[in-house]
Amino acid sequence: MLKGRHLIDIMDFSIEELDEIFKLANEIISKEKDFSKVCDGKLLATLFYEPSTRTRLSFESAMIRLGGKVVGFSEPNSSSVSKGESIADTIRVIGCYADIIAMRHPKEGAPKIASMYSTVPVINAGDGGHQHPTQTLTDLLTIKSIKGTLSNLKIGCCGDLKFGRTVHSLINAMSRYENNSFTLISPEELKVPDYVKKELNRKGVNYSETKNLEDAIGSLDILYMTRVQKERFFNEEDYIRLKDIYILSKDKMSKAGKDMIVLHPLPRVNEIPYEIDSDPRACYFKQVKYGMYVRMALMLKLLGIR
Ligand code: NCD
Repeated sequence: MLKGRHLIDIMDFSIEELDEIFKLANEIISKEKDFSKVCDGKLLATLFYEPSTRTRLSFESAMIRLGGKVVGFSEPNSSSVSKGESIADTIRVIGCYADIIAMRHPKEGAPKIASMYSTVPVINAGDGGHQHPTQTLTDLLTIKSIKGTLSNLKIGCCGDLKFGRTVHSLINAMSRYENNSFTLISPEELKVPDYVKKELNRKGVNYSETKNLEDAIGSLDILYMTRVQKERFFNEEDYIRLKDIYILSKDKMSKAGKDMIVLHPLPRVNEIPYEIDSDPRACYFKQVKYGMYVRMALMLKLLGIR
């Protein structure tokens, strides 16, 4: 039962619960009109303490397409946060107005704290360099729809694996399905944090680390590209040195299998040149669409409407 629950970490939901969400998302995709009024009278609050276009607008479009309404802020300086209000108080107040809350925060763990004080479901829309579970719902629905399965896949994650929260959530989620393996492609400075690797080791999941995208690409079913997370660097020099370390050129794509798909949570910076967009293996814009549908399904489940 997902009604009334929070989504803070993708591991909060069982595989069966994730399946329920994907099933509903597919139903929405095939009969969107039937869902256009199901959230009539419901209000989503989007509390974004950190910049976002995609995720916030994805949540807002999702709620509006279900017939509900949206309030919120995307600029914390214009809210009482700038007066020093605590997350606990903000959440208790918003819970009096809204039926469901999506929250993004630069501090790891902030949405978890919010959920402890909230009377309505809280969805983590990204917390610092930690987790981003609704991006993972998006990624999983995209993979399932295009590849037809979430098992037996060779997944390459490339770029900023240290600060890229989408990758952390994706690795946790995909390592629960049978026989998936990971190739973690990053420079030394941007390797996956130990806590993520510890989990892989504990579960006995197959993974390797490399710096070389060119060597790894030929064996992958999925290439998950990420941008170097400029805002989480302590020093600009390091960012400048590392920012263009992986560029997915046509030449590299020619070494990949014909069924490999390229995903990216977006925004991209330079890591995927525009010329790759027309390659049928480039699936990152499809992924955006799946993201909206999966958020529609998630909110319907947490609100107990479906
Ligand atoms: C990601 C994020 O916010 O972590 N973007 C998103 O949610 N679409 C990835 C990123 O910012 O690089």
